[in-house]
Amino acid sequence: MENERFELFIPGRLCILGEHSDWAGANRVVNGAIPQGMAIVSGIEQGIHAWIEKSGEFEVISDLPGEQLEFHEKMSVQELRKTAVEGGYFSYMAGTASYIKEHYHVGGMKIVIDEMTLPMKKGLSSSAAICVLVAKAFNILYGLNMSTLGIMQAAYRGEQRTPSRCGRLDQACAYGVKPVVMTFDGSDVEVERLTVRGNFYWVFANLNASKDTVKILGDLGKCYPFAQNELERGVQEALGIRNQEIIRRAVGYFESGDAEGMGKLLTEAQKLFDEQVAPACPSQLAAPVLHGILRDPTIRALTWGAKGVGSQGDGTVQFLAKDEAAQDELIRYLTAEKEMEAYRFTIRQQRKVRKAVIPVAGFGTRVYPETRMIKKEFFPVADRDGLVKPALLVLLEELDRAGIDKICLVIGEEEQEMYRRYFEMPLPMEHLQKLSRQMKSYEDTILRIGKKLQYVIQNERKGFGHAVYQCREFAGGQPVLLLLGDTIYESDGDCSCVEQLLDAYEKSDKLAVGLAEVALERAEKYGILTGKWEDAAERFMEVDAIVEKPSVQTAQESLSVTMADGEKKYFMVFGNYVLTPEVFEELGNQMEKELVPSGEYQLTDALEAVRSRHGMIGYRIEGTAYDIGNPLVYRKTVAEFGMGR
Ligand code: UTP
Repeated sequence: MENERFELFIPGRLCILGEHSDWAGANRVVNGAIPQGMAIVSGIEQGIHAWIEKSGEFEVISDLPGEQLEFHEKMSVQELRKTAVEGGYFSYMAGTASYIKEHYHVGGMKIVIDEMTLPMKKGLSSSAAICVLVAKAFNILYGLNMSTLGIMQAAYRGEQRTPSRCGRLDQACAYGVKPVVMTFDGSDVEVERLTVRGNFYWVFANLNASKDTVKILGDLGKCYPFAQNELERGVQEALGIRNQEIIRRAVGYFESGDAEGMGKLLTEAQKLFDEQVAPACPSQLAAPVLHGILRDPTIRALTWGAKGVGSQGDGTVQFLAKDEAAQDELIRYLTAEKEMEAYRFTIRQQRKVRKAVIPVAGFGTRVYPETRMIKKEFFPVADRDGLVKPALLVLLEELDRAGIDKICLVIGEEEQEMYRRYFEMPLPMEHLQKLSRQMKSYEDTILRIGKKLQYVIQNERKGFGHAVYQCREFAGGQPVLLLLGDTIYESDGDCSCVEQLLDAYEKSDKLAVGLAEVALERAEKYGILTGKWEDAAERFMEVDAIVEKPSVQTAQESLSVTMADGEKKYFMVFGNYVLTPEVFEELGNQMEKELVPSGEYQLTDALEAVRSRHGMIGYRIEGTAYDIGNPLVYRKTVAEFGMGR
């Protein structure tokens, strides 16, 4: 038996808003008048770290400081179900394993848990994280091809086989440390990722008190499915229509980066809960410890707002701190003065650029005759993970990692079918079976990235600028990242070449171009930029001019850049750009004019026009661009790409 080990990290989850709406929404199966449940949930920084590998049986080793526990069982549905029913730490794993075994063809596995930074039984769904861990582990080891929703479902069903009763929002940790909106409609669950602008500095803390979740759920559950009196109608309204309003406002605050608004909303949601829900279970939900902390003047000065967590009661509290310094101070205060375990949880702003464009319609004359049959974007390179990939896929992976959601490929009309076949059609089972585990998992990566792709057709090949212009509707007035289709990039550091440029753009909001140094003799082959460095490290340039393929003489006379030590250097476009909406307008103006003598519209002319009116920044990328559209350089690319530097 192959014994490959894999590493897994599953975060805990925090229900930011909308607790109890999961099971409340599930009542729609019986009473359609109940509104859908909605909640905002996020994975947190704390979680469970484990190693997994295939085994003949189901083994779990909990190798934690002060807690060495072992559990072995035959991979039999009956035995595992029996363990699940008994309750306790291993019951969650056994419950999920039994569910998976019942529904999929799997063997056993060994899980070694070597780090647990998640406090147990504190409303952060540590049990759900354990169930998600087991479902994910089977998915990886046995190539089950489960979607994230599928993993959540298996984890939910697994936990249902134990005496513990989890809700439908507990498995959101399967989405990682990202906030999502979950909608609960009868037995259906929908999950949508949130857009986050601005940073949100959360703190959550263990109240060191107790709560009886079973009692809370029992008492609130009595208000469903049909409300019999004012109190029950109040609970249904708070967890239904009023909760939906709160969630919609919270989505807006995330989108606009309004932490103050969000904090006040947390406090408002707690007030609503206290007024309309808590009276249905006063013994647990009066929560004196929670309310004492919520009133604390030191804490109020450091935070925008706060509320309870999970089933509420005296379990866990969450605060939205005013900034990073307030977050630090609050953690210090809670730990030192209140003797509570307090945890940091920061939801960070996503980058402004979420779309990318890659023109790949060119014929690739320079690499004829290969391009009679194969697009140069599909030329092979051995990547750092050891897989041989089409160059385009290396690029797409870099975009995916940089958080780009939508990618527009500019292609020729006849090429659409080929792209769709490559990125949308699963491999036939006959071939899939022959793949190694790493390759099988890469199959999922291809199909997942494929979902981010859109195509626009360039009917006539009128140059790079013309190809870019075809994406004006895709750009839709937003900044877009532009990459050449026939170049791949390797960064010198942890931050990819694309991420470096996106970060530079965020600082200026101006048209941005990646820069690379070039020898004067080669300047006539490229777009050359000149300008002044804005920082001591000489990475940020305020660009004064960009010229396409200047003569060596022109470059020497007017395009040199003087470095701090007095040396003159030359800089070319690296191959990545952030285009602002003005670039598309300018390309449109150019298209209306006569064709340029070469018969091709270049992008550089439009960039220079926009620069002269709105300014442009250059960013010297720490990395190397490898060309694949030129025979001599392609040879170097194949030999050197992925070898590290
Ligand atoms: P190139 O300038 O390398 O042109 O394009 P090309 O036609 O692909 O190759 P040669 O010069 O004939 O050998 C840079 C990028 O722009 C795309 C290409 O596919 C490549 O990714 N492109 C170029 C288009 O999409 N449409 C065009 O009309 C021209």
